[in-house]
Amino acid sequence: MSTQLEQQDETEEQTAETSPQERRREAKQIREAERQERLKEELKAAEETVTLKIFRYDPEVEGKEEPRFDNFTVPFHEGMTVLDALIYSRDTYDSSLTFRHSCRQAVCGSDALFINGRQRLACKTQMIDLDWPIRVEPLPHQDVVKDLVVDMQHFYDQMDAVEPYFDPDDLPDGELEEQRQTPGNREKVKLSTRCIWCGACMSSCNIAAGQNEYLGPAAINKAYRFAMDEREGTDRKKERLRIIDQENGVWRCQTQFSCTEVCPKDIPLTEHIQELKREAVKNNLKFW
Ligand code: FES
Repeated sequence: MSTQLEQQDETEEQTAETSPQERRREAKQIREAERQERLKEELKAAEETVTLKIFRYDPEVEGKEEPRFDNFTVPFHEGMTVLDALIYSRDTYDSSLTFRHSCRQAVCGSDALFINGRQRLACKTQMIDLDWPIRVEPLPHQDVVKDLVVDMQHFYDQMDAVEPYFDPDDLPDGELEEQRQTPGNREKVKLSTRCIWCGACMSSCNIAAGQNEYLGPAAINKAYRFAMDEREGTDRKKERLRIIDQENGVWRCQTQFSCTEVCPKDIPLTEHIQELKREAVKNNLKFW
């Protein structure tokens, strides 16, 4: 009995000697060791693994200001997207790995990245469709904030410049009355309404690269979406055409089709830009 009491006293003494910070540190080390063990087991159990070469850059942390690539090996499973692999890498290897994502179903447009040399949505890109190892970089032609996150402000400013909101001539009489559109007109603007503001098109465009004020394919497509909407009326359409009929508007497009090729929503962007060029010419014709 006395030995038991002595042992208890000893343990209590030891606990009292250890500070709360040390206890937390020890617990963290144990958790980390367990995590590493789990990871080894997972990788051993996986039938196939794939390596991601991920661009890293953090201007605010000493020693990480130099851009570099980090390799992360992840277990592959059928149906896995690049976004799944990024999330796995962040949760398993390095919680500081930074990238944007939200809906995971090609709707929010926040995870457009440069994957294996092409602009794509990470959540829509199946790993099986790519060559391995997979190289993941931030969108080109944009300033990198950290790792895979780019500064989208310029893109948003260009979108804002075309007044991207519905602005009808007449409002319906009743408060709850619908603003009706003919099926034919709806069909005409249908594809242009699919834009999710991901910025892939702007990033792929050579003309929009660098420091210039070209409105870019996404903003021009947005202008198309409203200029072609019959409910806005002819006066508003003329105003909209004036916005895109300027030095940094539709005339900068050299029909390279790169925007159309990378658009994850299959919007015929180049076609819309060409149609607006024709509309702008018609808008300037004078008949005496
Ligand atoms: Fe929303 Fe990919 S996470 S588009």
